[in-house]
Amino acid sequence: MFITLEGPEGSGKTSQLGQFAVFLRQQDYDVVTTREPGGTSIGDQIRQVLVSMDNKNLHPRTEILLFLSARAQLVEELIKPSLASGKIVVCDRYGDSTLAYQGFGHGLPLDMLREMLRFATDGLVPDLTLYLDIEVEKGLLRKKKGQEWNRLDAYEVEFHRRVRNGYLQLAASEPERWRVIDASQSKQEVQQAMRTATLAALEKFKSQTVSED
Ligand code: TYD
Repeated sequence: MFITLEGPEGSGKTSQLGQFAVFLRQQDYDVVTTREPGGTSIGDQIRQVLVSMDNKNLHPRTEILLFLSARAQLVEELIKPSLASGKIVVCDRYGDSTLAYQGFGHGLPLDMLREMLRFATDGLVPDLTLYLDIEVEKGLLRKKKGQEWNRLDAYEVEFHRRVRNGYLQLAASEPERWRVIDASQSKQEVQQAMRTATLAALEKFKSQTVSED
């Protein structure tokens, strides 16, 4: 099963990922975790270009092509083979980040982005997307405290507002795939909500896979 974590800046998804994977392994699942942009040697090199403070004039079109390049590599090198061998793949950000940030955030046409995503991912869509929702100001404040302030964080608050609203629209339009989790709760509560949502989805996923056989 393919699970993605999504959220605006400071939603805390990256710090939840480790514990979440440990929990799934305790339930006897074989779990692979990865992140975007990056997750492969080639993808990590692309990530450096994307997050470098030196690249302030990176054009939005260049940016999106770099995100998609890293993703194409990740899908082929890691995600597809892992899913084929029956593993659970948990990915920190995936295609919905492109729709939220480049689409809703930068205003690139969603239809075109969806087409490009299909190409980059070879049509691979997550089975479950856990969306950690947080108010923009709260999230940005958390992130500043965590001192991970890079080029991408420096966009104006309005941009982040569009991103968050975009995420909420995406979640509402595909409720069977998305689970919206209130990330302003305590770390433990967020973790619990992630686990509960995932166990339920895993049950459903297993029964579907059995009936398809
Ligand atoms: P990162 O430091 O990984 O942030 P986070 O911990 O919030 O995931 O930086 C990733 C940044 O890249 C983040 O600001 C979101 C952005 N991004 C896009 O704009 N489009 C994309 O397709 C992806 C995968 C990420």
